[in-house]
Amino acid sequence: MRKLIILSVILLAVFVGLVATADDARRVEVAEFDADGNLLVPEDLDQWVFLGSSLGMGYSQADFDPDSPGMFQIVRMEPQAYRAFRDTGQFVDGAMLSLHFYGSQNEISINRAGFVMDDLHFAEIHYKDSERYPEGFNFYNLNNGDEVATEIPLPNECVECHKRDGAYDGVFVQFYPTIHEFLPEDVRASLGDGGDHQGH
Ligand code: HEC
Repeated sequence: MRKLIILSVILLAVFVGLVATADDARRVEVAEFDADGNLLVPEDLDQWVFLGSSLGMGYSQADFDPDSPGMFQIVRMEPQAYRAFRDTGQFVDGAMLSLHFYGSQNEISINRAGFVMDDLHFAEIHYKDSERYPEGFNFYNLNNGDEVATEIPLPNECVECHKRDGAYDGVFVQFYPTIHEFLPEDVRASLGDGGDHQGH
């Protein structure tokens, strides 16, 4: 009998643990807002996880000049949301992704070919919340040195393009090969990405 009780207690603990994990995975509580609805700049923004980068990304060939390629765009994700994404393959509510725009420069230091990053110009944050937004997400502008990121009023072209052309849940995962291995199978298939390029 005693063994049975101990076993029941262990099973209950495991069950509660599983439920708690499932709950955690559904939402991360990291973002903080001020009274005006602006997003407080997360203190650990420098520790977010790298997803992808691009240089001089534009939507027509004419936009690109190899001698002056434009800005580097660096995409990262808040670490708790990243872990939830690894576990569930979903951008859970409360998830944040950032896009930082850096200038590009050449012939600096020992660099003679290609481009290296220059100063930060500004950043944008993608915030997921299916209760707060009709499309499940919206964006915030983050200017250098500011303590809050300001919400871009809805409707806006940001959400429109992301919803239409982002390959998964309004996020441009098609350009972030680092996370393809965690995507649901059907999304990977739609990207033509069956293999594991990461090698883990
Ligand atoms: C015409 C389409 C288009 C519009 C409009 C657009 N974006 Fe994006 N966005 C992209 C693409 C493409 C990427 C992938 C960036 C890369 O790989 O460098 C991206 C990536 C991002 C990311 C990184 C996370 C993610 O969702 O993939 C953020 C944050 C972001 N955009 C914010 C904005 C904001 C803010 C606006 C409006 C001011 C905006 N975008 C408007 C196409 C668009």
